[in-house]
Amino acid sequence: MNILAIESSCDETAAAVVTDGRTIRSSAIDSQVAEHRLYGGVVPEIASRRHCENIVPVVEKALGDAGCTLAGIDAVAVTAAPGLIGALLVGVNYAKGLAYAADKPLVPVHHIRGHIAANYLAHPSLEPPFLCLVVSGGHTHIVRVNGYTDFQVIGRTRDDAAGEAFDKAARAMGFAYPGGVYIDQAAGRGDPDRYRLPKPRVDGAPYDFSFSGLKTAVINLLHNARQKGETVDIDSLAASFQRTVCEVLTDKLCAAARAYGCTTIAAAGGVSANSGLRAALEQMCRAQGWQYFAPPLSLCGDNAAMIGAQAYYEYQAGVRAGADLNAAPSMDIAEGFAQARAQRAFGIPSRPAGSAV
Ligand code: KG4
Ligand code: ZN
Repeated sequence: MNILAIESSCDETAAAVVTDGRTIRSSAIDSQVAEHRLYGGVVPEIASRRHCENIVPVVEKALGDAGCTLAGIDAVAVTAAPGLIGALLVGVNYAKGLAYAADKPLVPVHHIRGHIAANYLAHPSLEPPFLCLVVSGGHTHIVRVNGYTDFQVIGRTRDDAAGEAFDKAARAMGFAYPGGVYIDQAAGRGDPDRYRLPKPRVDGAPYDFSFSGLKTAVINLLHNARQKGETVDIDSLAASFQRTVCEVLTDKLCAAARAYGCTTIAAAGGVSANSGLRAALEQMCRAQGWQYFAPPLSLCGDNAAMIGAQAYYEYQAGVRAGADLNAAPSMDIAEGFAQARAQRAFGIPSRPAGSAV
């Protein structure tokens, strides 16, 4: 089954053709990051406008690279939640138009479910159940993946997401947006023991995270040093910060895996590209005798192939949307689009025979 998937939830316009949820036939991504960097973060209005400009060439490129036309596509999938509402709406409306014009089923996909599914594209042997650490710019979750469309959130951040903490700490250290990757590079040159940073805990919630105190500690350390005229070893501050974040993430994931009896572990989301985190998770799993999976670096950040992978399993579960599909800026991963299945009767009507589109 060939799915044409579209992703526009943040600052990447992406389209991909994926076969049977596991094989990438093409994956086109147009990133706006260079433009948003000028403003120190994603500007929603600019993101929406660029998606409008980019979506047609990106979808054409994905179809062209896969060597197929719409006739060879069995379903259209689109990220419909969560994300920037104006950005999501571009993909959702384009996908609705395409599904209607080509008379194909439309499958709505939850963005974070897609991040988890990036693992299926790289690891043919990976099947639920497994425990997944989802670490992106907007989300930090420990998710028990009970089935391909059955998710249970075991822990979540109470404030900043891990990627957000990386980006805010990076900004304070003088790096450009998005700074997670620059902290990663600087950390490789620094001494992680040089600065002592707090490891925030959430009382009574052993698997929940809190990163805003850690971010503030970095900002205060830099501020105090500046006031005293002292220089800060940025490489070592980056190394100390990265190690602290990685320890918090791996400690809680390890505790959750033990408590829930999970022996297959996966990582997902933009921050799963972090070299320190990948090494820490691999070491943890090796020490515990657990299986460990992470997407290749090319599939950690936002892309449409991961949406096409998850869409295959949503389709198998009967999830469909119609012309009434709307985008949602926030939605729990456990909720997904089960409702869309219930409303199938209101799906896209077939075009009257012979009608022009
Ligand atoms: O999953 P993603 O591409 O977008 C969202 O859905 O949010 O994640 C983007 C986040 C950004 O915060 C970015 O700084 C972070 O992933 N990131 C990294 C690395 N590469 C990307 N953070 C730490 N180390 C990296 N190597
Ligand atoms: Zn993402």
